[in-house]
Amino acid sequence: MPNEKNFRGTVLVVDDEASIRESLRMVLEYEGYRVEEATSGEQALDRVRASAPEAILLDIKMPGMDGLEVMTSLHERGYDVPILIITGHGDVATAVEATRNGAYDFFEKPLERERVLVSLRNAIENYRLHREPGVARLSADELVGSSTVMKRLRETITKAAPTAATVLITGESGTGKELVARAIHRQSQRSDRALVQVNCAAIPEELIESELFGHEKGSFTGASRRQTGKFVAADGGTIFLDEIGDMSARTQAKVLRVLQDGDVEPVGAQKTVKVDVRVVAATNRDLEDEIKEGRFREDLFYRLNVIPVRTAPLREHLEDLEELVDYFIRRFSQADNYPPKELSAEALELLQGLSWKGNVRELKNVVERILILSASDPISRPEVVELLGGGSAELSAPLAGAKTLRQFREAAERLFLVQKLDENDWNVTRTAEVIETPRSNLYKKMEQYSIHRETRGRED
Ligand SMILES: Nc1ncnc2c1ncn2[C@@H]1O[C@H](COP(=O)(O)OP(=O)(O)OP(=O)(O)O)[C@@H](O)[C@H]1O
Ligand SMILES: [Mg+2]
Repeated sequence: MPNEKNFRGTVLVVDDEASIRESLRMVLEYEGYRVEEATSGEQALDRVRASAPEAILLDIKMPGMDGLEVMTSLHERGYDVPILIITGHGDVATAVEATRNGAYDFFEKPLERERVLVSLRNAIENYRLHREPGVARLSADELVGSSTVMKRLRETITKAAPTAATVLITGESGTGKELVARAIHRQSQRSDRALVQVNCAAIPEELIESELFGHEKGSFTGASRRQTGKFVAADGGTIFLDEIGDMSARTQAKVLRVLQDGDVEPVGAQKTVKVDVRVVAATNRDLEDEIKEGRFREDLFYRLNVIPVRTAPLREHLEDLEELVDYFIRRFSQADNYPPKELSAEALELLQGLSWKGNVRELKNVVERILILSASDPISRPEVVELLGGGSAELSAPLAGAKTLRQFREAAERLFLVQKLDENDWNVTRTAEVIETPRSNLYKKMEQYSIHRETRGRED
């Protein structure tokens, strides 16, 4: 592992030959790169997502998916990470084809150390220069997770995307609805046209119609100029109507009209405009409930709900938590350019035990906080407890649930003891010393509050 001082970035080495991977790893790690490996094209695609490299050294000739195919498929997925091609001796033709298809550079085997290093350094510098500051553009839009739930979601997206059908995405807050909408657009035939996003909840009621449909000059007080609506701006592309459950009845009627016959009527205009727009809508409300309450039009619901897509709450696919944590750690460390830290098995277990009402968004924020504030590496469970403790409603929930003073005192005492035991690796003698109570008393309390060490022994 490179140390923090001379850390130069993460590189993914893709080659089926172990000896090449091995020698590249040695050279690159010595220079301060973190090296990730893949032994096949298929594995490379997985590793790119998981490790978020800033450059890829890619062998052309591999059994199964070859280097050119890997490149194409990375570009299709929206990755713009520089790819440096490795070819066999004398296979310059393929290498030239690869550079024509967007490879950054190519090297013939046997590899020349200096040439690889210089090119790699330039590739990464260049990549960082063109990346939004502070944001790891790479894979920022990926839907991460290998659970059945996530696989199904990706399958649905892949099936729905190429069609013109309207999609209605429903799911709790923070479950990735916006990511799904973007993925649908990206994988559609309209991907080279605009994706126009409208947050229906954020726009004041009196402005939403002119936002969506545009208005003529002077059509209302304050309308000093003609404005093009979002539907017209999205012509040929996709409009993403986010938080559609928050739309007024009046606007719903107008949206219905666009869906029915593609007619957009700007506010104050005499004529309607025809548009070709694919509609993707999302909401975290239960629209069927909203219909029952008379707040959402049933006919609009059916128009929108041609392809229903549900994003599952995180508690329904906790098996993805580790992969997500890993992914966020890498993304944040890449953005701020330091080597990724690791989370201890116990800390991970702690996270897996929480209920994640804020779903993946909450997890992402927690990972960021832990990364910034933690001192240990691998990050220990006690440290995570401490870092979450203050802000986490969940960890302090027992306190909030107490009704009497006595219940509160007991809940607080229990919380305190668990935390201190955790900090001292569940060594009862040491914990008792630290909190200045007889060991027998600590045992008694542990018994009284049924405190057990539920976690496995430390391996690190
Ligand atoms: N499966 C996932 N893989 C990677 N990142 C994810 C995943 N799901 C959600 N995220 C991330 O979590 C955050 C919240 O996702 P998103 O904004 O898509 O949620 P949402 O369902 O639209 O929430 P809301 O209803 O509050 O608008 C984003 O930063 C997103 O990148
Ligand atoms: Mg959203």
